[in-house]
Parts: sequence; structure tokens; C-alpha cells
Amino acid sequence: MDTTDKTLSAEELAKINGGMDRPIVLVGMMGVGKSSVGKRVAGAIGCDFVDADEEIERSAQMTIPEIFENFGEDYFRDGERRVIARLIEEADGAIVIATGGGAFCNEETRALILDKAIPVWLDSDIDTLVERTSRKDNRPLLKEGDPREILTRLRSEREPFYSRAPIHVISESGPHAHTVAKVLKGIAQWL
Ligand code: S3P
Repeated sequence: MDTTDKTLSAEELAKINGGMDRPIVLVGMMGVGKSSVGKRVAGAIGCDFVDADEEIERSAQMTIPEIFENFGEDYFRDGERRVIARLIEEADGAIVIATGGGAFCNEETRALILDKAIPVWLDSDIDTLVERTSRKDNRPLLKEGDPREILTRLRSEREPFYSRAPIHVISESGPHAHTVAKVLKGIAQWL
């Protein structure tokens, strides 16, 4: 479902407020805006927001670049899988969870999210991803070569997984408010 009409009716908002009994989980590529959009979606619904990457850092007492550097990607992926499982199992009703770009590619994590949450795939074109990821220097995978090439490859490898999410929202360059409205609309239609 691609939610192109951004207008959210009072009925739709009431439906979300009354019918939200499970976590909303944002999946999609690095730089697509999962955390920024997630915070705003949570604000609109009036529920908590949690960033899975921050939870991983808190549990490990290390930053993500430090985890990659000291223990490697497999160790990070294992922590990511456990942290997301805990966040979903512990969720009591509505909460918005932003996941790292690789999380939904793990079979176990994807199955759990599809079963117990409302997955929303946030998607952007490559130019937007390159521009947004260039603002921060904290993504180890983008240091392994040319960021545009890496993002292009990862996006095409991961698309088959992301596309399993029942709600698909295009995040255009520009203000996140439009994307937030499209996410809310997608959820209202899905409920
Ligand atoms: C990753 C995305 C990052 C973070 C880690 C790996 C990925 O999160 O989990 O650097 O594999 O795409 P964001 O998607 O929030 O940047």
C-alpha cells in the first residue's frame, strides 16, 4: 500500500487512537528518516518512541561504530536481534520503534515484527539517502567504500525484505511532516 494522499481525517485519527494495540515498527534504509519520522508519529498518536539503535548502544555501553570496530558486524546483528525482540515483547500497547536499516533483513526479527507489530517501510530515492546519510559520520557500513555505491547495492539487496511490510511510505526530500502524515494515513487504512 503506498499512501500518496496525505490528508488525515478526524475519523482516521480517532481510529488510530482507539485501535492501536501493538507497536508501530519503522523499517527501511539508513538515512530514510526512521528516527525523525518515528518521533513525530509517536507525538501525533501520544505514545512513546524508542530508537532500537540507541537501545543497542545502551545495552552494549558502546556506540555502534565501537561495536563494529571491536566485535564486528555479526556481533552487532546478534545484539540487534535480541534488543528488538525485547522491545517488541515488552511493548504494552502503542509504541513507535525505529529500527536500524539491516534489522528487517534478519528472518527471525522480520517474522516477529510481521506477527506482533505494524511494520511500515519508509523508502527514499538514492539521492535523498546519500544526502541525508552524509550529515552524520556514524554508519560503519558506509565507510567501506563509496557511500552512493554501497547505498545503491544495499537498497536493491534489501528491497525484497522491506517490501514484506504491509505499509509502504515514500519519504521525499524536504520536511518530514508530509511523511509523518502519510505514515499515519497508512496505519489508519491498515487498521
Ligand atoms: C545499519 C543501519 C544503522 C545501524 C548500523 C547498520 C544498516 O541504522 O543499525 O549502522 O545495516 O543499514 P540506521 O538505519 O538508523 O542508520
